[in-house]
Amino acid sequence: ASVPAPTAPHSAAPATLVTNIGSLATNDPALGEGPLGLLADAAVVLDGDRVAWVGRAADAPAADAVHDAGGRAAVPGFVDSHSHLVFAGDRTEEFRARMSGRPYAAGGIRTTVAATRAAGDEQLHATVARHTAEALRQGTTVLETKSGYGLTVEDEARSLRVAAAHTDEVTYLGAHVVPPEYEDDPAGYVDLVTGPMLDACAPHARWVDVFCERGAFDGDQARAVLTAGAARGLVPRVHANQLHHGPGVQLAVELEAASADHCTHLTDADVDALANSRTVATLLPGAEFSTRSPYPDARRLLDAGATVALSTDCNPGSSYTSSMAFCIALAVREMRMTPDEALWSATAGGAAALRRTDVGRITPGARADLVLLDAPSHVHLAYRPGVPLVHGVWRAGRPV
Ligand code: NIG
Ligand code: FE
Repeated sequence: ASVPAPTAPHSAAPATLVTNIGSLATNDPALGEGPLGLLADAAVVLDGDRVAWVGRAADAPAADAVHDAGGRAAVPGFVDSHSHLVFAGDRTEEFRARMSGRPYAAGGIRTTVAATRAAGDEQLHATVARHTAEALRQGTTVLETKSGYGLTVEDEARSLRVAAAHTDEVTYLGAHVVPPEYEDDPAGYVDLVTGPMLDACAPHARWVDVFCERGAFDGDQARAVLTAGAARGLVPRVHANQLHHGPGVQLAVELEAASADHCTHLTDADVDALANSRTVATLLPGAEFSTRSPYPDARRLLDAGATVALSTDCNPGSSYTSSMAFCIALAVREMRMTPDEALWSATAGGAAALRRTDVGRITPGARADLVLLDAPSHVHLAYRPGVPLVHGVWRAGRPV
């Protein structure tokens, strides 16, 4: 299993002082007010790929270069801990039919599987590159992505190689659905996913995932997939309780998965289990938006004490958005999160879901991932939905 690649040496770029930040969300309560560690009239020094200093603009040290933020708000780069970008084609017709009343079902995944298998490597690279660039322009500086539209040994391994060329956070999702050629032998497909396919895929991935859902994989099958992956050093994460109640969340907690993703249909026992675990509840409101489904209840999870992340789930079927700002707006309007909670979940929450401490906050030593907003505060991310508020992005200390 791979781990995030080492970052560039400390002296890769000269120190830059970003100053005159009207409102800075650091996610470090030691640096400012509340859980977001909010600082007014702030400045940040970026040195190489790291944050070197954070504080009041009036106290800022000298630097080689100065960037005047013009009173804009700044937030940590968004951490999108759940996407499916290795695909070909799109599902416009399925979306059009859904908006006329057809329900979403896991079976649509097979449409994308057929297109992905037929695509050349260059096409897949271009698709991932286009969407990661699209996300970066919108402030996403860390992005997880998965296989899951190949579903043969060769196509899953290829998908992961493609993903790994674009991001360090790569997830093996051979257990997305049972492909048509295994329709009559789902047990045989689980053997493939936990055997030869895992052998081919484990070297290219950090995480193992399974779609635990009616029409995809049941609790026993999901357990087999996750434990086989864990035995090869991949850390579990689970597509859990998206379309129905089911065993996914309990399994995620039992296997100490990094995250249980979707969490739309939860029992009280599921909420308790998440609240008493290290497993992050990753909510994906773009999926409920695009499938016209009831949203997960973030308030219930937060009030119980669970750690909540927000991500896009960007994929051509259930959630074709790469906008973390849109997900923040949905979370605030539809899921009873406060604007502060939603920002935290889209940054520090995503980092927790990826078990990263180097991203998701703006604090000395953290990776220098910073987003300037054309707004006086981060609240505008939810308050001004659909407006492109990202003014500038630094990723690992480099302006985008
Ligand atoms: O996270 N739930 C399973 N997988 C994706 C949907 C993939 C698709 O419809 O193509 C999801 O929503
Ligand atoms: Fe997903």
